[in-house]
Amino acid sequence: MSKEQNKEIVLAEHPKGVPTKETFKINDIDLPSPKDGELLLKTIYVSVDPGKRGFMDKGEDNAAGKKFQLDEAITSRSDAQVLESKSDAFKKDDIVHGRLAWKKFQAVPTDGLEKVDPELAPLQTSVSVLGVTGLAAYFGLLKIGKPKKGETVVVSGAAGSVGSTVAQIAKIKGCRVVGIAGSKAKIDYLENELGIDKGINYKKTVNMESAIKEACPDGVDVFFDNVGGDLFDAVFANSNRKSRMVICGQIAEYNDDDQPEGPRPQHLLIKKSAKIEGFVVFDFEDEFDEAKKQLADWYNSGKLKYKENLVEGFENIPSAFIGLFSGENIGKQMVKVSEEE
Ligand SMILES: NC(=O)c1ccc[n+]([C@@H]2O[C@H](COP(=O)([O-])OP(=O)(O)OC[C@H]3O[C@@H](n4cnc5c(N)ncnc54)[C@H](OP(=O)(O)O)[C@@H]3O)[C@@H](O)[C@H]2O)c1
Repeated sequence: MSKEQNKEIVLAEHPKGVPTKETFKINDIDLPSPKDGELLLKTIYVSVDPGKRGFMDKGEDNAAGKKFQLDEAITSRSDAQVLESKSDAFKKDDIVHGRLAWKKFQAVPTDGLEKVDPELAPLQTSVSVLGVTGLAAYFGLLKIGKPKKGETVVVSGAAGSVGSTVAQIAKIKGCRVVGIAGSKAKIDYLENELGIDKGINYKKTVNMESAIKEACPDGVDVFFDNVGGDLFDAVFANSNRKSRMVICGQIAEYNDDDQPEGPRPQHLLIKKSAKIEGFVVFDFEDEFDEAKKQLADWYNSGKLKYKENLVEGFENIPSAFIGLFSGENIGKQMVKVSEEE
């Protein structure tokens, strides 16, 4: 295999605002040889996630992980096939899932890698509905939102990977579901294909607070927030007594340098006995296997649908990532790098 056949994508500069193609650089690199205990992997599917934006800024590492350094390969959750194994944990041809570098081929230790169970659901579900985004939807909604039958659940970023899963689990639990998203195609998808009760196109709505009031005549019991900013304020203004605000993501603020300013809702939390709670999906790591089984059951029985926004080709990983910030995707934004052998 020649040098040109292996490539990596590194952070070329710290982005200012929304990342651009200059944020990334594609290098030709050698094909590595696995050492004892390592695997040689060929990347198949790469998940691109808005949350990676926060790791591209300069500065201190934070509790959620280490920041990317300049000229260092970016990493994200990926599926890969074992081409050569020097470990007893995996054998040649196994498909593994874990946090891997944006490289076509890489030699890595086995820590943090798991074998993908081909019986559970199709391979690519391990970077989508059975992966981090499906699990964030599952745990955030069920463990923090705790929706009860008949309650109203509002979800922002509703046509994305996390949001579309939240919307459907809330329907499975017997809730009225209102989804907020940024195009007519997304609202049609949510209302007609996923069967939510009402979609609101925030890009075409002048007064979000009134639109939510109209869509939620009984108020909001659970708000699953993927977006933050003004949308949070508009939904919170309609929240009920004992409501639960689940803070999963704040994509509206990922590209801002300044600390967000906004209403300080603490006094309303007292009046409403309401709760705002953030989480990272790995808070629930011990329960992942059980959750994946439930998600796979719903998926295989047709109760939980998912859509892939599948981009082909390693070189297109940066544009797929950048597209998340202009709402290019319906469902999970992912990149197919190579075929499974
Ligand atoms: N807490 C955790 O452990 C955890 C785990 C996974 C993901 N997350 C977070 O969950 C959220 C959703 O992630 P995902 O992977 O499912 O992404 P996604 O929703 O599939 O894709 C991002 C979507 O966000 C919307 N968006 C982009 N910029 C926006 C803005 N300025 N204002 C409003 N909406 C905007 C776009 O849809 P529109 O067309 O609707 O604008 C875009 O399609 C992200 O914030 C992510 O960081 C958190």
